[in-house]
Amino acid sequence: SESNQPILYVNGVRRVLPDGLAHFTLLEYLRDTGLTGTKLGCGEGGCGACTVMISYLDQNLKKCVHLAINACLAPLYSVEGMHVITVEGIGSCRYGLHPIQESLANSHGSQCGFCTPGFVMSMYALLRSSKNPPTEEDIKENLAGNLCRCTGYRPIIDAFRVFARTDDALYTIQSSGLSSSEFVCPSTGKPCSCGQNIKDAVVTTTISSCSSDILKPISYSDTDGAAYTSKELIFPPELLMR
Ligand code: FES
Ligand code: FES
Repeated sequence: SESNQPILYVNGVRRVLPDGLAHFTLLEYLRDTGLTGTKLGCGEGGCGACTVMISYLDQNLKKCVHLAINACLAPLYSVEGMHVITVEGIGSCRYGLHPIQESLANSHGSQCGFCTPGFVMSMYALLRSSKNPPTEEDIKENLAGNLCRCTGYRPIIDAFRVFARTDDALYTIQSSGLSSSEFVCPSTGKPCSCGQNIKDAVVTTTISSCSSDILKPISYSDTDGAAYTSKELIFPPELLMR
């Protein structure tokens, strides 16, 4: 019956897992189905170019767990019953970049771009799985599995620093001479016009629109097209019943 079929969700879309693909990795499956944003680099867990986020219901913890994994190492059938989010699921030029992508682009943290989806997804999984905004140290540690041969990493760290915990951002404000009562965007950790008007001069990274809505979940009927740009994909309710 339909309810017994092995399924997974990819970027909010339900898929029945085909038979006969026991030799496939998740990466091969994703790329074969047209999701080529996830890259094959080393193919052995060393470079992070294939990073995607998986979400599943942890039966013991009774909660949804979000994890960044190397899709090149994961057997396809190991993600049965899970939700896989690839870089296509969080943002694109066509429908709008995710703030993580936008910040990376603005900071010149992407050159040849081959590593970029992996960095983006590692950062995305960190933000989705952290109850509180991460520290800058957390962010650096979280990127330990992602290699880039172009940027020297500094622009990537600079791009992601805006997502670090607010006390770091307050430090930025204080050291720039503004009072700490200036509004700090909860999403970017930077002063932002989404709340009160603040001096443009402090906004060192340009994030064109405030993304404070971005962490609010949505229902699946909303996920086609532009909905990706302003809302995050939720955990599929069907996967809670299994
Ligand atoms: Fe290098 Fe997967 S392709 S870690
Ligand atoms: Fe070229 Fe990172 S931008 S490998």
